[in-house]
Amino acid sequence: MKIAVYSTKAYDREFLDRENSAAKHEFTYLESRLNIKTALMAGGHDAVCCFVNDDLGPEVLTLLNELGVRMVALRCAGFNNLHRSKLKELGMTAARVPAYSPYAVAEHALALILALNRRLHKAYNRVRELNFSLVGLAGFDLNEATVGVIGTGKIGQIMARNMKGLGCRVLAYDPYPSAECSAEYVTLERLLQESRIVSLHCPLMPQTHHLIDSQALHSMQPGALLINTSRGGLVDTPAVIEALKSGHLGGLGIDVYEEEEELFFEDQSGSVLQDDTFARLLTFPNVLITGHQAFLTQEALTNIARVTLENLSAFEEGVTTGREL
Ligand code: NAI
Repeated sequence: MKIAVYSTKAYDREFLDRENSAAKHEFTYLESRLNIKTALMAGGHDAVCCFVNDDLGPEVLTLLNELGVRMVALRCAGFNNLHRSKLKELGMTAARVPAYSPYAVAEHALALILALNRRLHKAYNRVRELNFSLVGLAGFDLNEATVGVIGTGKIGQIMARNMKGLGCRVLAYDPYPSAECSAEYVTLERLLQESRIVSLHCPLMPQTHHLIDSQALHSMQPGALLINTSRGGLVDTPAVIEALKSGHLGGLGIDVYEEEEELFFEDQSGSVLQDDTFARLLTFPNVLITGHQAFLTQEALTNIARVTLENLSAFEEGVTTGREL
C-alpha cells in the first residue's frame, strides 16, 4: 500500500524503514502535521499514518476520504484527536498501537517525580555555575509517601507497581478497577486528599476534560506534586497556575500540555513564545516540563513501527487485529 506518513521525525523514518525492510509498503514521509491544508498531500495514497497532534477531525477525514484514503494508521495509543463517528460514517478504518511500551511512559512519570522532588533541574544548573549551595533543594523521602494513580490501565498499573517498589503507599482511582492492580482503590476525592503525589494515567475524553480543576486542586494536600504524562486537557492549566502562585500546589511535572499542538515536537528556540499561559508555567521554579517525550525509548519506537506495519498489512489483507477503532 502507499502510505502518507505525517509529522515524520528522523526517528520515525529510521524505525519504520527498518520494520519495512522487505518493502511491503511504500512510505511517503511528510514533515508537516496533518490538517485541512496538508491533507491534499495524501492524494494518491491508500492510507495515512499519523501521530498525536495530527488533526483527524470531521473536515480532514472527509477530505481524506474524497482523496481515496481508506485507512488511518495511528502510531500512538491515544486517539482523542480522531473523530470516530465521522470515520465510521465514511466507512474508513483506523487502527492504533495500544501498548508500545507502557514502561516507557510510567518510567518517565517516575523521572519527573524524582527530578521535581529532589530539584535536579535546579541542582544541575547550579553545579554547572559552581554554585554548590543546597538552599531550596530539600525534597521528601518517597519511601512511605502516599502516591495517587488516576487511571489504572496499562501505564497506571506499571506506575503503581514501580511506586510500590520504592516503598510508597499507592492509592488508585479508576471507574473500572482492575483485579491485576496492586494499588488500593479509593474514591477520587479520597485519593486527592491523601496523596502527596498525584499522577494522571487516564485518557482524555469529555468526562475527563479538566479532571484536575480548581476544586480538585483545592482537595489536594498543601505541597502535593501533580504529574501529568497523559494528555494536557486533563488539567485546567490556569487553575494550576493559581494553585502554584498561592503555594498550595507544591510542584508540577508535565510531559503534555493542553495547547501543545502549537509548540511541541519542533525547535522553536528562535521564535517569540506567543502562549502566555505556557510562558507563566516556565517562570515557576517548581515546574518541570518535557515536550511529550514519555514514549521515546528504543523499545517503544521499535514496537510502534512493528505494530503500525502489522495494522497496515492487516487492513490490506482484510483481517482484523482488535486494534481497530
Ligand atoms: P489504558 O486504556 O490501558 O488505560 C486507561 C485507564 O483509564 C483505564 O483503566 C480506564 O478505565 C481509565 N479511566 C477511564 N476513565 C477514567 C476516569 N474518568 N478516571 C480515571 N480513570 C479513568 O491506557 P494506557 O495505555 O495506560 O494510557 C493512558 C494514557 O496515557 C493514554 O490515554 C494516553 O493519553 C497517555 N499516553 C501518553 C504518552 C506520552 O508519551 N506522554 C504515550 C502513551 C500514552
